Amino acid sequence: MQGMPRRLYGTALKLNHLMQKEKIWHPFNRVWHWVFALVVIGGWYTGQFMTFSTIAWHFYFGYAALILVGVRLVWGALMLTSKNSGGLYLPSFENLILYARSLKSREPSGTAGHNPLGTLSIILMLLLIGTQGLTGLFIESIDFFETAPLTHLISEAMQSKMNWWHHTVSALLPYIVGLHLLAVLFYLIWKKENLIMPMITGWKWVKRDNTDSHTQS
Ligand code: HEM
Ligand code: HEM
Repeated sequence: MQGMPRRLYGTALKLNHLMQKEKIWHPFNRVWHWVFALVVIGGWYTGQFMTFSTIAWHFYFGYAALILVGVRLVWGALMLTSKNSGGLYLPSFENLILYARSLKSREPSGTAGHNPLGTLSIILMLLLIGTQGLTGLFIESIDFFETAPLTHLISEAMQSKMNWWHHTVSALLPYIVGLHLLAVLFYLIWKKENLIMPMITGWKWVKRDNTDSHTQS
């Protein structure tokens, strides 16, 4: 396939049967992802533009985000030993470097699940949003006369630390989500690989030699 226009490379891989369509995302992952995205956006919006009537909603979105992070981490741990793509493993440094080097080639990764960099960024995103939710449980809103359920358990000094973390992470969140969307766009445009459709339908074009890589790091 040498000398072939780059935009045709992915198609050529498919025609040459080097890639096959496989169902890689369990319905759990797909439903979880879109619900999580809505909940995080809802939580951020009701926090950023908080009013007396939306603070309760902010708490509900926050609890939902925390539950979803917890459920995803448990699912990620349970799926580590299965063929399912949802296992969350910590990729080795070597694999991260190897994968990062392959980013410049305009060839679809064809990974049957998240690639090593994707897994790392998703673990970091879960930890960050988990931190946001957990710190929220311990703060109070002076402007809206509302106290989170666990605020009374800690000292005022700790509350102000939690408040600092809650505000700082909330300021970072739009950039983190923006980076996530840019990465998806990078795959679509640069690597000619649509990651969005698989997150909706479950089906993805996967390289044949990658079909057993669900649990590899
Ligand atoms: C993923 C979950 C969450 C997100 C994205 C989020 C986001 C935000 C944002 C953007 C703000 C405004 C920050 C600012 O103006 O600088 C805020 C404030 C606040 N959040 Fe959250 N939050 C989450 C979870 C929670 C939870 C679980 C609680 C408590 C149950 C909570 C309680 C509060 C309170 C009380 C404030 C107002 C603090 C103040 O007035 O200084 N948040 N949150
Ligand atoms: C606040 C908004 C969002 C958050 C917090 C978020 C978070 C996440 C997380 C945690 C995952 C990993 C899912 C899993 O392993 O089960 C993921 C994957 C993914 N997200 Fe999002 N997401 C958001 C919005 C979006 C949007 C709007 C799109 C589409 C344009 C999108 C496209 C994707 C895709 C394609 C994947 C799979 C990546 C891969 O194949 O490795 N996300 N997202």
